[in-house]
Parts: sequence; structure tokens; C-alpha cells
Amino acid sequence: MNSLEYKNNKLIFDNLDLSESCQNLQTPFYIYSENLIKKNIHEYLSNANENTLFCYSVKANSNLSILKIIASQGLGFDVVSKGELYRVIKAGADPQKIVYSGVGKTSDEIKYALANNIFCFNIESESELNAVNNQAELMNCTASISIRVNPDVSVKTHPYISTGMKENKFGISYNNALNVYKKASKLNNINIIGIDFHIGSQITSIEPFIDSINSIKNLITALNKENINISYIDVGGGLGINYENDTIVNKSEYTTKILDSLSDIDASIIFEPGRSIIGDCGLLVTKIEYIKETSSKNFVIVDASMSELIRPPLYDAYHKIVPVIQHENDLKLYDVVGPVCESADFLGKDRKLNPTESELLVVQDVGAYGSVLSSNYNTRPKPAEYIISDGEIREIRSRDTLDQIISNENP
Ligand code: LLP
Repeated sequence: MNSLEYKNNKLIFDNLDLSESCQNLQTPFYIYSENLIKKNIHEYLSNANENTLFCYSVKANSNLSILKIIASQGLGFDVVSKGELYRVIKAGADPQKIVYSGVGKTSDEIKYALANNIFCFNIESESELNAVNNQAELMNCTASISIRVNPDVSVKTHPYISTGMKENKFGISYNNALNVYKKASKLNNINIIGIDFHIGSQITSIEPFIDSINSIKNLITALNKENINISYIDVGGGLGINYENDTIVNKSEYTTKILDSLSDIDASIIFEPGRSIIGDCGLLVTKIEYIKETSSKNFVIVDASMSELIRPPLYDAYHKIVPVIQHENDLKLYDVVGPVCESADFLGKDRKLNPTESELLVVQDVGAYGSVLSSNYNTRPKPAEYIISDGEIREIRSRDTLDQIISNENP
């Protein structure tokens, strides 16, 4: 992350000295940078044309303030639930820039999306196609749809976040897609507008995207022969970020190459980036509670845990962990672990540190799939979230209170 660096041994994030500005905030907490979010968005937009729409994938980070910032930059949204749709509407999204993905949309969710006049449903099965048609008929309206095609492309990423292979639950198989399009074209309350794919997340190179586009193009040719014409191609999200010296195709090159590869088709292009917009804009700040050194292993026990950040145990994800005051000498290897009663409760393993009790550590690149995946496991309050805007820190979510955590229970 470029905007995180030591100056005079103090960690600076978006021009703020974290050792000073975080002193009075209760740990653990997430902190984001508005400048960095906008920088990422502009890297995408600088290569776009008037036929390109970026729909930020809300699941990556759904905080209302963050959604508002993203909407203010003209982006649309990719949602996967009534709850996410509710959030983006609250954040001021233009309904005609909302696409709705996901394999299990319920009739209640479809109804809510139709009532809000969203731009497009990304249809993931024939049963869902019929459900959307039926609901639209009941509401006397037409649903615009793309069909999510599974291009059967393998990507080099963690198996839990690969989505575009035959054995994945997502989309309609490549071989069956033409058939489903033909059926869709006969439904009265369905308006076919596009084709969609999403092959996975934390993808580092351009090749799998281009391979998918090539097979999608063959399908478009077959569709045209059937007189089914589409005006939108949704290429999903999935571009990765640099967590641990990963080499990632940059956003400009990614966008340009995808747009170039589709320039021979008369259609608008939709992108659904999530992680690459928000991932490197967020930190988790945590305090060292205890240091435990044993003959076989050293541990730094911090006040953040898998309840606040589950990516390390769930995906074997690597996040850099650094102190807010730099120590260069006497470094030893420590596992950075939390207080939760699970051996899987670690934030990082074998990290070079020279820790002292009460000092603050920063877990990097947690803007995406960090706070959204946090839980109240061990009855731990979900952490506060802050954002740096115009050089000031603003709270954008307060920490749960214990009463909030138990408020839905009936003793
Ligand atoms: N579009 C669809 C249909 C998706 O399913 C996803 C992510 C995206 C867009 C955005 O993908 P991105 O640009 O963020 O890679 N929790 C996992 C990641 C799960 C991704 C799920 N789908 C993690 O922490 O790595």
C-alpha cells in the first residue's frame, strides 16, 4: 500500500500519523481513507468510455458512508441481497445503475428489486428465470435480465473464491446457456439485455478474463444467429490486490485490455469490482495485550481476532502486520493471535516483530471482506469503523454495545 509508510519511524496513513491520531480510539477498529477509495475509482474511470459502467460489488464493504462516496463518483452497484439493495438505495444509488447477482434470490427479494426498478437481474438458473418472470407478471412489469454464464475457466486463486468452473454453483453452464436464452426470449415479462460472467476473486493476471471473453463471444455469435441480441456484457469483478508482494495487472491495463477485446461487439460493458476498489484502503488497528514466549513458539496476543477479521483462517489469507512505531532491531518471529477460543484464531503467523505490551499494530489491506465478514462470535462487539476524509478522522460506524448484541434474543 503506497499511502502507508514510515516517516521518522512513525506509521503514516493518508498523511495522518497513526501513532498520534489513534491513541484515543478504542481498539480494535477499522480505518479507511477516502482519498485512496477515490484514487482507485479514478484509475478505473480514466480508461472508461461512455459505454462503460462500473458497478461496485457491495459485498466487499457495505458501510453506508463508503457506498455514498462510491455513488458520488458516479458508480453503480452490484448487489446480492435485499439488504444490500436497501443499503445502496439509502446511499443514494441510481436504480438504473444497479445489477442484482446471486444464485438464490427469493421471491421477496425479486419483488423488492422490481419495485425499485433496478437495471438488471443477473440470472443464475432456469428456475430463477421463471421466478423473475412470474413475479414481473404479477407486478405487471418487465424485468431486464442478463444470463450469468459459467465459462468454465480456471483461475489461480483460493478454491473458495473461484467461481467460474463447471463444478461451481454459480451461473448457467456454457453448454446450456443458448438453450436458456431461447427460453427467456419466449417469456412475456422478461427483456433480455445482456450476458454476464464472474470467474472468481483475487485474480492477478488478465489471461483468465480474456479467455472467458473469448468463449462468451462465441456464445454471442450463436445468440445473434437466433435473433437474440444483447446490448450489455457484464465481465464481473475479480481483479486482485497486492497483499504479499503479489504482481497484479494494474487497473488501467485490465480495463483497457478488456475493453479492447470487446471493441468488435456493439455493446456497453459493465464491470463489478469490489476488492480492487476498497481492499487497500482499509486498516485494522489492534492493541497488543500480552506477549507469550515459549520454547517452541512466540505469540503476540492482540485485542482483534477472527471475529473482526476472518480472512486469515478462512482463506489462508496473508495480511501484512506492522507496528505504528517502527522497530528495526531485535526482531523475532511471532504468531499474531486473538483472544477467541479457537486455534484458528490468528491474524498472521511467523511475523518479524519486536513487540511491547499496549503498543498498536496495524493489519493492512483489510478494506474488502474485512468488516463485512466480522461476527459477534464469543459475544465480541463488532468494531467501530472510521474514515479519513479531508485530513480528519470521522466515525462511520460505532462499535456494537453489548445490549445491541443481545437485543434480538428473548430470554
Ligand atoms: N461480482 C460477483 C458476482 C461476485 O460474486 C463478486 C465477489 C464480485 C463481483 C466482486 O469480486 P471482487 O472484485 O471483490 O474480487 N470473501 C472472499 C471474496 C469473495 C468474493 C465473492 N464474490 C475474500 O475475502 O477473499
